[in-house]
Amino acid sequence: MSDRKTIYLCLAHMSEEGIEQKYVKEAFDTNWVVPLGPNVNGFEEELKQFVGGNHEVVALSAGTAAVHLALLACGVGPGDEVLVQSFTFCASSHPITYLGATPVFVDSEPDTWNMDPVLLEEAIKDRIAKTGKKPKAIVPVALYGMPYDCERIMEVAHRYDIPVIEDAAEGFGSKFNGRVLGTFGKYGVLSFNGNKMITTSGGGALICRDSESKNNIMWYATQAREAYPYYQHEAIGYNYRMSNICAGIGRGQMTVAQAHIDHHKHVQAMYETLLADVEGVTVHKQPATGKYDSNFWLCTITLEPSLEIKGQENAYKEVIKTAVGGAAGVIHAVDCATTDCQPNDNVEALRVFMLEKKIEARPVWKPMHKQPVYKSAPAYVNGVSEAIFKVGMCLPAGPYVTDDDVRYIVDCIKEAIVK
Ligand SMILES: Cc1ncc(COP(=O)(O)O)c(C=O)c1O
Repeated sequence: MSDRKTIYLCLAHMSEEGIEQKYVKEAFDTNWVVPLGPNVNGFEEELKQFVGGNHEVVALSAGTAAVHLALLACGVGPGDEVLVQSFTFCASSHPITYLGATPVFVDSEPDTWNMDPVLLEEAIKDRIAKTGKKPKAIVPVALYGMPYDCERIMEVAHRYDIPVIEDAAEGFGSKFNGRVLGTFGKYGVLSFNGNKMITTSGGGALICRDSESKNNIMWYATQAREAYPYYQHEAIGYNYRMSNICAGIGRGQMTVAQAHIDHHKHVQAMYETLLADVEGVTVHKQPATGKYDSNFWLCTITLEPSLEIKGQENAYKEVIKTAVGGAAGVIHAVDCATTDCQPNDNVEALRVFMLEKKIEARPVWKPMHKQPVYKSAPAYVNGVSEAIFKVGMCLPAGPYVTDDDVRYIVDCIKEAIVK
């Protein structure tokens, strides 16, 4: 097995024909090497067709920028509160703090692992009672691609007249009742980071309801300038537009977007079949109501706490030296290998076992309400996300993962189990 290549969670995967390079070359050849141009316009048009309806799309430098600008356009500012799903990657909530506002975390429902609509309403009522004003926005998240309960979340949001910003960064092409995620709320966030369903190397987009909101977002994304022959500013803007080079990659990727989505679903179906009889391991599936159509950006499993994994006695004995899960950049070194809220020993042992087998597996996102940086943020919790964090694990799912890889991954999981 030593000549096996490492199977990563999800890697960028270019079109066979190299269409991405054709668009990038065109950008160089025509000297559109700037954060605007034909590829940006073309990519936006293709995204618009993809999401359907009358929606508009603005291409941005990152999904995080899209969250930031959507919040800004919803009027979020210092002293405001925003309701956000706790079980998510930090980019759903960090931009709330960029604006001087406070995230109010809402826990998940067990079926989708996404924002619990009942808890959402409780949180709205309680925030109004405690602060005398309504939260400025609601941010549900399509965790690992799984749609949130769009019907119930939107129903609560409409009743209280609070705008919804859908964080569909992981849910590109996922659908609810046949409709693409990101088109239910006032804004929909997409990410084209290197590990996402399609990539622009780094990038994101915001789905807007009409051209007026698109123009407003575009204005903020290009430094918020007034129409004078010189640079006149009456508001603070940002440099968040997508580069024409990146958009060229995006245009090429749009030709394989559906194939990528189909492949992720195929890998999920294989895990569901091959792990069906493995006691103590449960594959997270979408609710069988016919409404949910997840892209299965990442496939996830949960481990029974009683399941014994090889090497479990050594879990968390040493501090790790590099970030788990392909995180780029610098991570702070730590002195202690444990925190007060971490995955169970068998989950950590399985991660290490899989790594030795050249398979990247990663714990599910640690809920934001358990993150030290948010210790003083209000949170409405039911224990669901914390419980899943202790037992959950992400498995490789991208287009690079072959059928043979899935069988190998499942065999390794079986091999790791002591009893
Ligand atoms: C749920 C979620 N929201 C937002 C983002 C931010 O996207 P980006 O990395 O493009 O800034 C990501 C991914 O990275 C994500 O997983």
